Amino acid sequence: MKFFVDTAEIDAIAELNDLGMVDGVTTNPSLILKSGRDIVEVTKEICELVTGPVSAEVVALDAEAMIAEGRRLAEIAENIAVKLPLTWDGLKACKVLSEEGKMVNVTLCFSANQALLAAKAGATFISPFIGRLDDINLDGMELIEDIRTIYDNYGFDTQILAASIRSVNHVTDAARVGADVMTAPPEVIKKLASHPLTDKGLEQFMADWAKTGQQII
Ligand code: E4P
Repeated sequence: MKFFVDTAEIDAIAELNDLGMVDGVTTNPSLILKSGRDIVEVTKEICELVTGPVSAEVVALDAEAMIAEGRRLAEIAENIAVKLPLTWDGLKACKVLSEEGKMVNVTLCFSANQALLAAKAGATFISPFIGRLDDINLDGMELIEDIRTIYDNYGFDTQILAASIRSVNHVTDAARVGADVMTAPPEVIKKLASHPLTDKGLEQFMADWAKTGQQII
């Protein structure tokens, strides 16, 4: 499973990237706002740091303007994936930009039918939003499973990018049901390393080691 980081914070991306944990990055208008940076400047910096796909989202709502914005964003670097919303206009823009050879990430997907349309429009990635479905008492993971089955039934090569990941359990479940990629905030990725039994075991080992009176170096 590929790991994308869902942030526009350079320091957080760099820390995870140094550990080899970053296969790509996703941003959105809210994350750009949170970073307080200019979209072109910060996206360029991220693309220089990370070799994998970096999603940058358009903000236009009609296809023609989305295509223009997508082309502008794609000029930033070769590893840009143009992020388009799953609307009828977004699908039109997806078809055009994909045929131009650009990577496209179709975002704000909340149903298997939407995912089917994105694959038919040539999307590189489809982003089903797990957490936001869970927020309204629907089963986000069931959506990932349905998309996996549908894409496998017909041999679509659009990659399933599990998004709106809020917990470590989301990561495990997305991996279990076969999402190709997951994108999560840096703090969720770091939490994957934590286990109370690891902490407890380490505490015991440290206490016993102190009693030996030995040193390794
Ligand atoms: C994905 O590309 C989105 O940027 C992100 O995962 C949305 O997550 P949220 O629902 O926690 O805002």
